[in-house]
Amino acid sequence: MNYLFFASYCLLPIISGALSTTEDPLSYRSIAGGYVTPKSKNTTTLLEFINSRSDLSVLAEELQNIGGFPTAFDTEPTWSFTFFAPNNDAFELHTGTYFNKFKSTPKGKWWLGNTLLSHYVPNTNLNSSSFNETYQRFQTASYLYVGSQVQDGEIILNNVATVVEKDISITKGAIHIIDRILDPSAQIFETDLPKVSQSFIPGSCSNQELSYC
Ligand SMILES: *[C@@H]1O[C@H](CO)[C@@H](O)[C@H](O)[C@H]1NC(C)=O
Ligand SMILES: *[C@@H]1O[C@H](CO)[C@@H](O)[C@H](O)[C@H]1NC(C)=O
Ligand SMILES: *[C@@H]1O[C@H](CO)[C@@H](O)[C@H](O)[C@H]1NC(C)=O
Repeated sequence: MNYLFFASYCLLPIISGALSTTEDPLSYRSIAGGYVTPKSKNTTTLLEFINSRSDLSVLAEELQNIGGFPTAFDTEPTWSFTFFAPNNDAFELHTGTYFNKFKSTPKGKWWLGNTLLSHYVPNTNLNSSSFNETYQRFQTASYLYVGSQVQDGEIILNNVATVVEKDISITKGAIHIIDRILDPSAQIFETDLPKVSQSFIPGSCSNQELSYC
C-alpha cells in the first residue's frame, strides 16, 4: 500500500476532526455562491408555491433544513411533475413524537428528504382525473409506490391520506394538498395492483432526447 495514502487515510479524520470542532458535524455543509439556474419571470416554482401558502408553512420550514431541496424545488422545471404537499395538519396532528424526535438527527433529516421524494412524481401530471374507484398505484421519485383510490368522492392515498385540495396548477406541475405524510417505509407489498398511467420510471430523464421525457 502507498504509505502516503495510508497516512492520509488514517490521519485525515483525526486532523480534520480536530480542526472542525466549531462546525456541527451533524449539519449539512453550506455551500456559498453555488450556481443558480436562471428562471423566467412567469414561472411559479414548487418552492415559491409552497412558500406562498400559509397551510404549508411547516413544510416550507422543514424544506430549508434538507440539503439540496430548496434549490431543487426552486429550479424552473423543463419536465412535468406532480407533488402531493403535506399540509400543517400532516406535520402537527398526524405524525406524533416519533417524527418530532427523530427529525433532529442526521438520519432523520435524510429520512425527511427521502420521504419528500415519495411525494414527488416526475415526468407526469397526475391530476384528479387520473384516479378512480379502483385501488391503483403510482410510482414516485423514491421509486416506491403509493396507493390511490377515490372513496366517497375523495382521493385517498395509501388508504390514509386525503387530498384536501386538488388540481392546483403551477409551471409544469400539478399540486394536491394532503393531510398526512406519505411514509415510504409504510409501503405495503401486495399482489400487483393496476398502475395509474404515468411516464416511464422516475429519474429516467437525464437524457431529454428520450421520447418519454
Ligand atoms: C414564460 O415566458 C417564456 C418567454 O417569455 C415563454 O417561452 C414560456 O412559454 C412562458 N411560460 C409559461 C408557463 O407561460
Ligand atoms: C386532467 O388531465 C386531463 C388529461 O391531461 C385533462 O383532459 C383534464 O382536463 C385535466 N383535468 C383537470 C381537472 O385538470
Ligand atoms: C380506473 O381506471 C383504470 C385505468 O384507466 C381502469 O382500468 C379501471 O377500470 C377504472 N376503474 C373504474 C372503477 O372506473
